[in-house]
Amino acid sequence: PRGAARNSDEVLEVGGVAVDELAQTYGTPLFVYDEADFRSRCSDMQEAFGPHGRVHYASKAFLSSEVARWVDSEGLSLDVCTGGELAIALRAGFPAERIAMHGNNKSEDELDYALESGIGHVVLDSMYEIERLDRLAGARGVVADVLIRVTPGVEAHTHEFISTAHEDQKFGFALAGGKAMDAVRAVFATDNLRLVGLHSHIGSQIFEIDGFELAAHRVLGLLADVVAEFGLEKTKQIEVLDLGGGLGISYIPSEEPPLVADLARSLVDIVRRESERLGLPMPAIAVEPGRAIAGPAGVTVYRVGTIKDVDLDGAATRRYVSVDGGMSDNIRTVLYDAEYDVRLANRLSDAPAVVCRVVGKHCESGDIVVRDCWLPSDLTPGDLLVVGATGAYCYSMSSRYNMAPRAAVAAVRDGQARLILRRETVEDFLSLEVDPT
Ligand code: LLP
Repeated sequence: PRGAARNSDEVLEVGGVAVDELAQTYGTPLFVYDEADFRSRCSDMQEAFGPHGRVHYASKAFLSSEVARWVDSEGLSLDVCTGGELAIALRAGFPAERIAMHGNNKSEDELDYALESGIGHVVLDSMYEIERLDRLAGARGVVADVLIRVTPGVEAHTHEFISTAHEDQKFGFALAGGKAMDAVRAVFATDNLRLVGLHSHIGSQIFEIDGFELAAHRVLGLLADVVAEFGLEKTKQIEVLDLGGGLGISYIPSEEPPLVADLARSLVDIVRRESERLGLPMPAIAVEPGRAIAGPAGVTVYRVGTIKDVDLDGAATRRYVSVDGGMSDNIRTVLYDAEYDVRLANRLSDAPAVVCRVVGKHCESGDIVVRDCWLPSDLTPGDLLVVGATGAYCYSMSSRYNMAPRAAVAAVRDGQARLILRRETVEDFLSLEVDPT
C-alpha cells in the first residue's frame, strides 16, 4: 500500500500501525487493508474517467460490509455476481440502484433477488437468461434494465484461466457469427427488459491497453449494427458501454502496469469519436476494476514457524520457510503461478540474504505462498512476514482446506486499526455439522 513504511523501531507499518501490534492484537495469518489507499484508488479511477465514467468496483476481488461502505462513500457503483455478494452489499446499505449483477449462470433465485432489491441492472449472459429474467420481471410487474455481455474475440495476454473474451469460453454472446446481434434482437422483443447497455470484459491482470481498445472498437461495431437495423431513436436507449475490469497491478517491483489515466483517455477518445460518427449521444463508459482497487491496498501478515534447508542437486540448498497460513488464504501462487513480494516485517536484519521458498501449513507440497525470494539468513520462528498486494482474490478465494479457519481481516487508517472480519473459529465449522437423528 501507499502508506507502508518502517517506523523508528524498524518495524513495518501499514496505515500508520505497526505490523507487530496488528499481529499481537488480531493474530496471524491476518489480512490488513489500508483504507486510505483503497479509497484513493477508487477516486483516482473516477477522476481518470471523468464525467463520462461510471466506475463499478468488482466485489469478487474482496468484499465485506465495511468495504462496501468505502466504495459507496467514494461514489462508485458495485458489481456483484452472486446472491451472496448482493446480500453483503445490501446489508452494508449500499444503494441498490448502483449495483449491477453479473454471472454466466445466475440462479432463478438470484435473478429474482436482484429484481426484488431493485438493483440498477443485470448483465445478461445467455438466451436462457433473457427468457428467464423477462419472465421473472413480468411476474413482478417491473421492467428490468439490462446490459448484454458481448465476447469481442480479443486475446488478452494473461493467464488462460482469467482470460475471458476469446471465443472458446463460457461467457457472453460472441460477436462472431452474429450471436451478440441475436441477443440484442431477443431483448428488444421482450416486454419486460430494457436494453440500456453493452458489456465486454476481456480478462484480468492485463498490462497492455490495446486489448481494451480493440474490445471498445468491436463493441462500438455492434452498436453501429444496432443503428443500422433498428435506427437511431431505438439505439439511443443504449446509454452505457461497459468495458469491464482487468487492469493489471504490480505484484513484484519489476512489473509496471499501465496508467489508469492513459487507459481512460484512450477509451474516452475512441467512444467519443465513434458515437459522433454514428450520430449518437456520447454513452457513459463503465469500467469494473476489482484488482486495481483492492489488490495493492491489502497485505497478509504471517508468523514464521518451521524453517528447513533442503538440499537441491549439486551443492545448492533451498530454505523452506513455513508460515501459519498458505494455500487456504492465498491460492493464487498455486493456481496461476502468481508472484509476490515478501518482507521480514518485525525488524530489519543485516544478515546476508538466502534463497527461500515461503510455504504454508497445508498437507501438500504445492502449498507455496512465494516460490522464490530472498530473506535474511537469521530468520527465526516467531518472525513476521508480510506479503504485499494480496488485497484482491486472496481472502475472496480462501478456503477451509485442512479445516484451517479463515484469517481475520483488519483495516488501518491514520494510525488506527479495527477488525472488519473476525477470524473463523472451529466452532463456526462445528455449527454446520448435522448430527444423526
Ligand atoms: N468484471 C467482470 C465481468 C469480471 O469477470 C471481472 C473479473 C472483473 C470485472 C474484475 O476484474 P479485475 O479488475 O479484478 O481484473 N481470480 C483471478 C481473477 C479472476 C477475475 C474474474 N473476473 C485472480 O486471482 O487473478
